[in-house]
Amino acid sequence: MNGKINRMIPFLNLSREYEELRAEIEPAVQRVMAAGSYILGPEVGEFERRFTQYCGVPFGVFVASGTDALMISLQASGVIRPGAEDEVITAAHGSPYTALGIVRAGARPVFAEVDSRTWHLTPETIERAITPRTKAIIPVHLYGLPCDMNGIMNIARQHGLDVIEDACQAHGAKFQDGGWKRVGSFGRAAAFSFYPTKNLGCFGDAGFILSTDGDLIERARLLARGGQRIRDLAAVPGFNSRGDEIQAAILNCKLSHLDEWNERRRALAAVYKRLLRLPNLRRQETPEGREHTYHLFVVRHKLRNQLRVHLHEKGIETMTHYPVALHRQPAFAGSGSGNLPEAERAADEVMSLPLQPSMTEAEVEEVANAVNEFSSFAS
Ligand SMILES: Cc1ncc(COP(=O)(O)O)c(C=O)c1O
Repeated sequence: MNGKINRMIPFLNLSREYEELRAEIEPAVQRVMAAGSYILGPEVGEFERRFTQYCGVPFGVFVASGTDALMISLQASGVIRPGAEDEVITAAHGSPYTALGIVRAGARPVFAEVDSRTWHLTPETIERAITPRTKAIIPVHLYGLPCDMNGIMNIARQHGLDVIEDACQAHGAKFQDGGWKRVGSFGRAAAFSFYPTKNLGCFGDAGFILSTDGDLIERARLLARGGQRIRDLAAVPGFNSRGDEIQAAILNCKLSHLDEWNERRRALAAVYKRLLRLPNLRRQETPEGREHTYHLFVVRHKLRNQLRVHLHEKGIETMTHYPVALHRQPAFAGSGSGNLPEAERAADEVMSLPLQPSMTEAEVEEVANAVNEFSSFAS
């Protein structure tokens, strides 16, 4: 670290976001603490009602994390048979938690190649990964960009497969299908994470399952509540994935601000797009008919590691989402997915620049200018 630096632009400063909402959040948390009901109380019920309405989907259940939401929705879908080596297809470039959700549901993740422009799986790459054992597809709306939900739902229908959307990074993002619809409303079910860094994040771990299928949500609710319909009588082997009242109270405050924060993220992303001029720097493309929510602003460069060092020396913190393609991770070594060069290149080249609603345009300009300065010694 260069000793002259006395100020950093952090990758993400959550305290800054907290200060903006302190006057709303502190009374809400105090109200829960004073009420003395800390798990599965009125705040969880209120958030289930409001978040399903926000997403335009009739049924939903609050769970303990996004990973649980994936695992439980797969189990509740009823397509995974214990010990049967059923396969679930997801993108090879993305978060290991998606694949962990598949493994913990009792299935085998199979990784599909990603597109060179959106860095998402596509109907074509899904089709190449389908085998007689395939039961479901988990498209990931990576970085806040919706996947091609029309194409994916068509492939799923042709092959009789379930679709569970991984919307953990895409709260509020929209895809045009006739009218504009929010992600989470296309698949048989959808999983969300409220991990603190997300566009809608709480102050611990929490997650959500959405579905238009009320029976699926009732099975998910049963699984998430210890498999107990009657207290202390386990009807099925479930999990402890209960909803936390304090987290739900925080989310009830924050949900009212989500659209305005997503709008701000898009405005700051537009500043980056306008200013970034480094040759050979690539951005995730947003096809027509999709509204990005920029959970992350990710760029690609062949000299990614050197560019990150350069920015660090300028006092700018960056991150890498994600540095190892999923089929190359030891935990998923048995996926049999073979070589997926586009996903491997993405893992080698991606880096995330700072972006959060409370950033100023001047800070975004400072980051963009620092990126552009890299050009003098990198071509
Ligand atoms: C794409 C994706 N899927 C799944 C998860 C898992 O969510 P959680 O951390 O709440 O378990 C995350 C977040 O970590 C994610 O970004």
